[in-house]
Amino acid sequence: MGSVRILGIESSCDETAASVVTDGHRVLSSVVASQMATHGKYGGVVPELASREHLRAIVPVVREALSESGTRLEDLAAIAATVGPGLVGSLLVGLTYAKSLSFASGVPLIAVNHVEGHIHAVVLEASRDGLAVEYPALALVVSGGHTHLFEVRAGFAYRLLGKTRDDAAGEAFDKVGKLLGYGYPGGPVIDRLAPYGDPQAVRFTFAKMKGNALDFSFSGLKTAVLRWVESRDMAAEIAARRALLREHSDPTTEQWLEATPRATLGLLASFQHAVIDELLKRAAAAAEQMGARCLIVSGGVACNAGLRAAAVAARLAYPVYFPSPGLSTDNAAMIAAAAFPKLARGEFAGLDIAAQANLTLA
Ligand code: KG4
Ligand code: ZN
Repeated sequence: MGSVRILGIESSCDETAASVVTDGHRVLSSVVASQMATHGKYGGVVPELASREHLRAIVPVVREALSESGTRLEDLAAIAATVGPGLVGSLLVGLTYAKSLSFASGVPLIAVNHVEGHIHAVVLEASRDGLAVEYPALALVVSGGHTHLFEVRAGFAYRLLGKTRDDAAGEAFDKVGKLLGYGYPGGPVIDRLAPYGDPQAVRFTFAKMKGNALDFSFSGLKTAVLRWVESRDMAAEIAARRALLREHSDPTTEQWLEATPRATLGLLASFQHAVIDELLKRAAAAAEQMGARCLIVSGGVACNAGLRAAAVAARLAYPVYFPSPGLSTDNAAMIAAAAFPKLARGEFAGLDIAAQANLTLA
């Protein structure tokens, strides 16, 4: 097969993204229109607003990805779109547009699972850099919507090993961030402030899990943070941070530090430490159980500097791969990359394929 170009389209949550990737690893363009400004003031993604923003962005975003890469529709081997999981109204916008482009151009459509896309963000960069990902691999997908452990076998067959029973790890970051007045999303701000606090300041204990020992739970941690906050008089400091956020839509680390007393920095550092510990502990157990040759960490929370450092410090017996930050959070290059092996296998989707909000992998 000569060089093949795939257009990827992603709209499962709050970013509208399009990308052109050749041979599964050369990213010719990757355009991401974020809706952060729209949802930030509501402290989370508002589904109705997300659909409306996707509708506004989809045509210009796809056009930009094509023109930036010098691609005409007839140059494409396939058009890949996320079919799920995600917000159904959001998924529909990207998928419907992909279908209409496919119908108009005769270029085949490929349906991609968003979670598989996150895993392929790592596969893409490894093959770009000439590194061979060895299988079976363990994939830890951690984002605002997912906290999953998958066994990935050669040829991209998946087996679910564990998942969160309640909140996703990114969701826990976002809820704590919102509670403490840091706005949405909370993950990046907490990550920036955690190094300034004492990670042992607050002791969090996790309830022992019944059933699958590889499942996660973050709701107890979130509740413990809530109790900690309620047992103190924090109203004034939280109000000051909300005011800071209204004044500067994206305050600097210095501004946040000025608005964050030492005790709160300790809480943030301890919270982040507890999340990282929980993620890596279960990942290590899963890797051992399945005999993983490497660990792939992907999804928005894979941006977390503390998580990256802890994964290195753990000195695991197998390599650990993280995507570069731009490919960790939602993007369409990972969707185009995930479609590449499907193209080789002729796994095309019909134009009648429906968006699936609760689509599972494996
Ligand atoms: O993958 P993503 O863009 O969207 C979903 O599929 O959910 O992930 C977004 C999530 C948010 O919950 C955000 O708070 C979290 O990733 N996140 C982080 C960091 N950057 C993004 N969490 C912790 N530390 C970060 N540096
Ligand atoms: Zn995602």
